[in-house]
Amino acid sequence: MEGDFIVIEGIDGSGTTTQTKLLCEWLDKKGKEYVRTQEPVKEELHIGKVIKEHLVQDDDDHSPESIALAFAADRLIHLEDRIIPALKEGKTVVSDRYYHSSMVYQPEHGADLSWVKEINKHARKPDATIIVDVPAEESMKRQQKRDGGESSVIFENLDFQKNIRERYIKLEEGLEEDIYIVDGVRSKQEVHEDVVEIVREVMEK
Ligand code: TMP
Repeated sequence: MEGDFIVIEGIDGSGTTTQTKLLCEWLDKKGKEYVRTQEPVKEELHIGKVIKEHLVQDDDDHSPESIALAFAADRLIHLEDRIIPALKEGKTVVSDRYYHSSMVYQPEHGADLSWVKEINKHARKPDATIIVDVPAEESMKRQQKRDGGESSVIFENLDFQKNIRERYIKLEEGLEEDIYIVDGVRSKQEVHEDVVEIVREVMEK
């Protein structure tokens, strides 16, 4: 039997990486076989590493379309190399970000949403996508704390993060799949409990 494919999404600083890690620790305790992964893929020889090092940080030099294509290519290779084989072996796959990130970030940079959906149409649908929802102000505060970021950069980004959050909230419209939104402005453990409840239900289906 195929494993379940779970995706954790959210704006920058929402806690997707923490929730991915906590979920995998829970799976481990339950004795379930799992693969923890993320997009963009950050390993050597992966397009995701090139994106992370050369495109995302430097995206004034590249069109939103070239970046969207790079993310989509990274994704299909990620699926073929890692996600699909693990699911076929019956493992649960937990990915920190997936095509939903492309559907919110690249249109916010100017790419056409329906075209972004089109170039991602060969990517397998997840069994559940959990959006960790936090207001943009909270995400900015967390990023500032984490990076010791300068306030000018933080304020420049506030509107961007607000728009990204709006796009996440509206994402379910037009996507025929199960998307759950959890309130991310609570302790890590409280958010994790909601995530576990959703995943438990998905696994029992
Ligand atoms: P992260 O590795 O710290 O999560 O950062 C990845 C950044 O890349 C984050 O700001 C979201 C963005 N991103 C996209 O713009 N499109 C995508 O398809 C993905 C997977 C990430």
